[in-house]
Amino acid sequence: MNDLLPQRTATWSRLEAKAAELAELRGYWPVVTPVVEPTELFTRAVGAGTDVVEKEMYTFEDRGGRSLTLRPEATASVVRAYFEGGLHDGPQPVRLRYLGPMFRHDRPQAGRYRQFFQFGVEAIGEAAPGLDVEVIELAYAWLAAIGVPGVSLQVNSIGDEVCRPAYREALRDHFRPHLAEMCEDCRRRFEVNPLRLLDCKKPSCVPFQAGAPSPVDHLCEPCRAHHQAVLAGLRALAIPFEQNPRLVRGLDYYTRTAFELWSTDLDGAQNALGGGGRYDGLAKELGFADTPGIGFAMGMERAHLALQRAGQEDVAPVPDVFVIPAAPGSDEAAQRVAADLRGAALRTVVSFGERSLKASMRAAQKSGAACVVILGEQELAAGEAAVRNMATGEQERVALGALAPVVADRVDAALAAAAAGEGGLERESPAGARASAAMPDAPAAANAAGQPSVGGGAKRMGSAAR
Ligand code: HAM
Repeated sequence: MNDLLPQRTATWSRLEAKAAELAELRGYWPVVTPVVEPTELFTRAVGAGTDVVEKEMYTFEDRGGRSLTLRPEATASVVRAYFEGGLHDGPQPVRLRYLGPMFRHDRPQAGRYRQFFQFGVEAIGEAAPGLDVEVIELAYAWLAAIGVPGVSLQVNSIGDEVCRPAYREALRDHFRPHLAEMCEDCRRRFEVNPLRLLDCKKPSCVPFQAGAPSPVDHLCEPCRAHHQAVLAGLRALAIPFEQNPRLVRGLDYYTRTAFELWSTDLDGAQNALGGGGRYDGLAKELGFADTPGIGFAMGMERAHLALQRAGQEDVAPVPDVFVIPAAPGSDEAAQRVAADLRGAALRTVVSFGERSLKASMRAAQKSGAACVVILGEQELAAGEAAVRNMATGEQERVALGALAPVVADRVDAALAAAAAGEGGLERESPAGARASAAMPDAPAAANAAGQPSVGGGAKRMGSAAR
């Protein structure tokens, strides 16, 4: 389980903001469900024979003797909430999104953690293939918008309760002669869920997967038509995909469409950036009315890791203005000045504490602030402050009453000067990252190239607001 410190939260915040923006554009509203649920919800939804339920859940008894589990995923909870909250009574489908922590007691490695965050959506109450396309497109659009390179969309259909029983038998017929040479997990999967035999990564088992019957060859007519409509929809949107007959997903609730988004650049790490699919049988399995649904979940850490490996991490934002209360007893004046500047949407920090002016100026420089406002004894006595443009070194005295518009102007001038290569504002930020005046959602390429990315397309927070 990880701490996320400011060095990483700049990128993280951008991923969150893009998820909210793109989901909202498509009508997906936030849903928040508890991180703890009755264990039974997951054993029924995810499936008793899955790795997640058998090996990875954090399950405990509460003080009332009930078995509870830290959620390993959110689809089951969202479907539960959809019914318990009465959303099934309103217009359908209901489009929901979430972003939050999930818990799986798996062996930690790069890209695999015991607490990890998912951005996910669920569209519940409609079986039409257009919704599959909508959901897949959203996942794809998010990865494109945040700039993850080398994304490969893998699509499959694993049929439904009509055609899957015969397909399971076809799979058993294929694997039966090799069972003695396969791993223990696969021998168990042979009985409980032979689809998972397609998905084992162990060298002992992989060779026997060659020539295994493909699920798309065993689809019933309605499933086949649904699958074709999904593929046609993806083609219509010019979303590139690969049909992958081996893709079966690790959770039992899927029917028909199953998909994953892989990173071709995450060698040696877990390469699935996200995945999802239809779960038309899940509501009924949980004891609710038979209701179709489809969704996905994207791994936030994995998306972040892919950006990190591509050198596309964002830098922590820096203040616009650094206020130095240099006169004895000038802290309160500094608070008032800072409040004024923040009212003008300037990111402002105050240098509190006993420090020489020289030490404060060093701190100001390190902070990367574009402007410094110094409240010295002489200035305060005259009702003024000294304003220093940190890019050009120019300093002037400004009446306290007129400070905000002048400082805003000088901040813009400093950023423009820095952008033109006149004087550098790039500093080592307190977070340890290379800091610039770029906002978290500034074009990442500028930062990746190690160029000062101030000014240009990267507007500081305040300029639009003013
Ligand atoms: P999942 O494939 O189990 O699907 O997880 C989705 C994504 O979560 C994975 O592709 C991966 O990026 C990330 N993830 C999973 N486990 C870990 C881990 N231990 N550490 C880091 N990241 C991880 C689901 O959870 C389904 N609920 C998706 C869904 C929604 N299907 C329909 N609706």
